[in-house]
Amino acid sequence: MKLSTANRTHTCGELNPAIAGQTVTLAGWVHRRRDLGGIIFIDLRDRYGITQIVFNPDQKIHETAKELRSEFVIRVTGKVVARDENNVNKNLSTGAIEIVSEKLDILTRAKTPPFALNEELKLDEDLRLQYRYLDLRRPAMQQALLFRHALAQTVRNFFSGEGFAEVETPVLMKSTPEGARDYLVPSRVHPGKFYALPQSPQIYKQLLMVAGMDRYFQIVKCFRDEDLRADRQPEFTQIDVEMAFVDREDVMTTVESLMDKIFTELKNIKISLPLKRMSYSDALRFYGNDKPDLRFDMKIFYIHELVAHSEFKVFQEVLAQKDGAVAGIKVIGEAGNFSRKKIDDITEFVKSYGAKGVATIKVESNGLTSSIAKFLTTDQLNAIVKAADAQPGDILLIVADSQKVVQSALGNLRLKLAEELGLMDDSKFELLWVVDFPLYEFDEEEKRFMAMHHPFTAPMDADLEYMDSDPGRVRAKAYDLVLNGTEVGGGSIRIFQKDVQNKMFDALKLTQEERELKFGFLLQAFEYGVPPHGGIALGFDRLAALLIGKKSIRDVIAFPKTNSAVSLMDNAPSVVDERQLRELHIRIDDKKN
Ligand code: AMO
Repeated sequence: MKLSTANRTHTCGELNPAIAGQTVTLAGWVHRRRDLGGIIFIDLRDRYGITQIVFNPDQKIHETAKELRSEFVIRVTGKVVARDENNVNKNLSTGAIEIVSEKLDILTRAKTPPFALNEELKLDEDLRLQYRYLDLRRPAMQQALLFRHALAQTVRNFFSGEGFAEVETPVLMKSTPEGARDYLVPSRVHPGKFYALPQSPQIYKQLLMVAGMDRYFQIVKCFRDEDLRADRQPEFTQIDVEMAFVDREDVMTTVESLMDKIFTELKNIKISLPLKRMSYSDALRFYGNDKPDLRFDMKIFYIHELVAHSEFKVFQEVLAQKDGAVAGIKVIGEAGNFSRKKIDDITEFVKSYGAKGVATIKVESNGLTSSIAKFLTTDQLNAIVKAADAQPGDILLIVADSQKVVQSALGNLRLKLAEELGLMDDSKFELLWVVDFPLYEFDEEEKRFMAMHHPFTAPMDADLEYMDSDPGRVRAKAYDLVLNGTEVGGGSIRIFQKDVQNKMFDALKLTQEERELKFGFLLQAFEYGVPPHGGIALGFDRLAALLIGKKSIRDVIAFPKTNSAVSLMDNAPSVVDERQLRELHIRIDDKKN
C-alpha cells in the first residue's frame, strides 16, 4: 500500500526507530501543542496516527511554530530521531521516535474548534452533528467508520464467495404499502405523480428471483418516514438477501455462516453454531418481547396455579378473565437495595405499560416480607418463592393483569433493571433466531387481520389449512435474527403459489381492485414462472453499532440525522424556492404551517 503523496513521504502512524536518521516529510492536523519554555512540541495527527514533532528554539522556523494552534494543517520535514528509553510514549504507536523539524509549512489555518478534538469529553451530540466533519476527525469516530468499512468488505467477500451477485435496485420507485410511511418524490414530468423512496428493495429482489438471478445480495440504503430513536434512522442501510429454490433452513444457515465469518474476522470470536432458536410465543412468554436479550437471565415466571385459590381479590379478578396472568421476575441479591422509593418508581414504570401496580416479595434470611402478605397464606407465598427458585437476598416483583399487559410491563421492567444493574455487558454477544411468528396480527382499530411481516410471507405448511377458518393460529415461515436484545435482521420464505397468495389476500380482506392496484406488477410477473424463494435483510447500521459497543447507530453513520429527522450540519430538510415548487406542480398550504 503506497500512502506517500505529493505532500508527504510517510503517514503520522508508521514511523519507528528502524528508520532513525532518515529525513521524512509528514502532513496533518495539529492535535496538541506544548510550549516548554523554548522547545515546542507538536502532536501531528492524521487518520493513521499521531507523531511528535520537535521545534528547537535555535531554529528559524521556531518563530513560525509559535503561531501553530489546534487543527492548523501543516507540512513538516525533519529527521527521525529515536527517543531515549525514559521518553518513550507507550500509548502511541510512534511513541519510540520523534521528528526534529527542519522545515515547516502552514498549509491552512483553523478557527478554534467548537469542541476539543484532543480529549475524550462527553460532548453534546447536537454540537457534534452540527460540526460533523470535526467530530469525524476524532480517532474514536474514525475507528467507527473504518470498522463499518471492514464490515462491508467482509459481507461482500462472504456473499461473492457463496455465488451471490450484488445487483442495484431503483431508488425512485412506485409507492407500495409496507410497514412505515413512504418518503415521496414529486415528478416534474408527470404533474401530480410521485415516486417513493424504497422502504426496502423487497419487491425488486423478488422480481430478481423471477428473473432467474438465483442468489442476490445488496448493501443498500432504505428510507422510512417513521418515529425515530437510537436504533432507527430515516435512511439506513440493509444487507439485503434473496435466494431461489430454498426453504427456511437454507436462508438461516447462510446467515449463520455470514455471522460466523463476521465474528471470526472482525471480533476474533468463535460463535457457536447452529444459533439458538426460540419461538415467538416463548420469547413473549419468558422475555416479554420478540427480541429477547439473553445476556442476562431474569426470565418471567408464571404463578397462576399457585394463586388460583387465593383470597386476594386482585388475583381473583385477573384470573377470572380469559387471558389473565399472574407473573413475576426475580432480581438476584437486590432485596436490600429496593427501598420504598425505588418500589414506588417501579410501580410508576409498570403503570406506563398499563399494569395497575407491582407486588413484592423480599426473601430474607429470617423470612419473607411481602406487600401482599396479608392476602396470601404462608404456604402460597412459600410456593411462589420456590417456583422462582429465590434465595435469601432476592426480591420478586409480581404483576397481575391481562397476559399482554403482564408481558409488556415485566419485559420492559426486566430491561430497565438490567440496565441499572449493569447486566448489559457490551463485550458479550448473544445471538439467536426468533421463529414461528404468527402470519397475521389482528388490528383492533380496523377490526381485521393484517400481515405481520408483509403479504408475501409464506405460511407454515402445517398451518395452511387454517388460513380460511382460523387465521389467528397460522404461523409464518419467518425468522428474525436478534443480537443482544436488538432485532438485527428479519426475513421469510415468500408465497409463490397463486392459490395461497389469494387466500392471504382474502384473509387481509383486500378487494380484487386493491390487489391489482397495490401489487399488480409483482402478481403479473408471478404468472410467468416463479421459483420458490425467500430471503432476509439485516440492519447494517445496527449490526455495526452493536459489534463495536455503540449505543446509537448515529455513531456508525458518517452523516446521520437527529431523532426529529433533521441534519443539523446542512439544515435538511429546508425550504425551496417558489420556482422549484412550481416546476413540481406543488403549492404549500400556508394554513398548515
Ligand atoms: P425489516 O423491515 O425487518 O425487513 O428490516 C430489516 C432490518 O433492517 C433494520 N431496520 C432499521 N435500521 C435502522 N433504522 C431503521 N429505521 C430501520 N428499520 C429496519 C432492522 C431490521 O431487522 N424487506 C424485509 C426483509 C425481508 O423480508 O427479506 C425488511 O425490510 O435491523
